[in-house]
Amino acid sequence: MDSTLLRHAARRHPARWRLLSAAAAGLLSLAGGLACAAEPKDVEAGRTLFMQATTPACAVCHTLADAGAAGTIGPSLDELKPDANRVAQAVRNGIGVMPAFDALSDADVQALAKYVSGVTGGAQ
Ligand code: HEC
Repeated sequence: MDSTLLRHAARRHPARWRLLSAAAAGLLSLAGGLACAAEPKDVEAGRTLFMQATTPACAVCHTLADAGAAGTIGPSLDELKPDANRVAQAVRNGIGVMPAFDALSDADVQALAKYVSGVTGGAQ
């Protein structure tokens, strides 16, 4: 259906049109809800690790839009777009003033690496 046709329909049947757009909006928000519910568990786990579950938290020093983090001591990960291996290396060994996170389990390091590379578009 092209937009001229839509406008025409809207003018001729305003009530029906309102109903239709309300239904469309409902469907859209339903789809939005589903997409949110379908967010993988490991993304949530990675975000929690990033925001608060490490000491100090990654978010204190790094900017990462997905996590709402705006730290400026380290590079912005949104711009760096590190691949998973680069994240894991930095977290395991430390780099520059960034400390090594010895207390994290391998699973946590992997979760962080997948999360950061995933949400920034870096290679997995
Ligand atoms: C105390 C501040 C601080 C904390 C906390 C911190 N970082 Fe960093 N991070 C830095 C700094 C500074 C650099 C840049 C180091 C350099 O290149 O000399 C960096 C670099 C990085 C890099 C890029 C590494 C590379 O190869 O260039 C990644 C990825 C990274 N951090 C991820 C994380 C993650 C994930 C966490 C949480 C586990 C974290 N950082 C916690 C300060 C921090």
